[in-house]
Amino acid sequence: MLQTEKLYEGKAKILYQTKDPFILLSVYKDDATAFNAQKKGQIYGKGAINCNIAAALFEWLESFGIPTHYIDTPAPNQMRVKAVKIIPLEVVVRNIAAGSLCRQTGLPEGQVLPVPLVEYYLKNDQLGDPLLTRDRIFLLEIVTQEQLQEIEEIALKINQYLQDFFNRCEITLVDFKLEFGHDAEQKILLADEISPDTCRLWDQKESDPQARVMDKDRFRKDLGQIESAYQQVQARVLAQIEQI
Ligand code: C5P
Repeated sequence: MLQTEKLYEGKAKILYQTKDPFILLSVYKDDATAFNAQKKGQIYGKGAINCNIAAALFEWLESFGIPTHYIDTPAPNQMRVKAVKIIPLEVVVRNIAAGSLCRQTGLPEGQVLPVPLVEYYLKNDQLGDPLLTRDRIFLLEIVTQEQLQEIEEIALKINQYLQDFFNRCEITLVDFKLEFGHDAEQKILLADEISPDTCRLWDQKESDPQARVMDKDRFRKDLGQIESAYQQVQARVLAQIEQI
C-alpha cells in the first residue's frame, strides 16, 4: 500500500497520508452505517464497488470541467485523491421526493420536483447533521456568499451530468449528497464519493417501489439483496463508461 499515517477514519472510508503532502489515499470499506451510525452492518464487496463507481463518475464529471479530488485507483478499493480541507457541509440535491424530504414535509415519495432542490446540512455527527438555512451557514462562517453561490452552481451542474449519465444506465437519479473541499490554492473541489451509499438510485426497468431500489435504502429499510443491487449499479455504470 502507498499509505503512511492514518489521518481519519470515517464510517465508509479511511484516509491515509502518503509520502506526497498533496496526495491522500482513501480506502473504501465494506462497513455500512445508517441513521447516524445507529444501524451498523457490512455489505460484502461494497468498498471495491463504491470505489469503482466513484472513480468512473469522477472521471465523467472531470470530462465536463468539474474539478474533483480524484487522481486514480491504485487498487480496487483504494483511491488516490488530492488533499483538500473538507468544507463541513453536506450538499444534497433532489430531483424526486424521498427520504427526509418526505418525512419532514409530507410530500409523497416519488413526486417529481418542479426544479431540483439544493439543501445544506451541517456535517457534524454529534449534532445529527442538522438542516441549515443560508443565514445559519453565514452565521457559522462555513463559507462566504460567493463560495456558497459557486457550490450551488457546481452542485446543479453535477446533477445535470449525473442525471444524464444514470438515464443512459436506465437508472433514475432521485437524490444524492456531495461534499466539497478547498485545495492548497483555495480552489473548491468536489470531494468524498458518489456511490450507491450517497445517492438514491431507482431501476427504470422495475416499477415495484421496493424492487426498483438500487442504493443504501436496501440496507436502511432491510430490503435484502443489497450486494446484488450494488453490483448491478457497478455493472451498468462500467458498461456505460465503456460505450463513451
Ligand atoms: O436522508 P435524506 O433523504 O436527507 O438523504 C438525501 C440523500 O443524501 C440520499 O441519497 C442519501 O443517501 C444521501 N445522504 C448521504 N449521507 C448523509 C445523509 C444523506 O449520503 N449523511
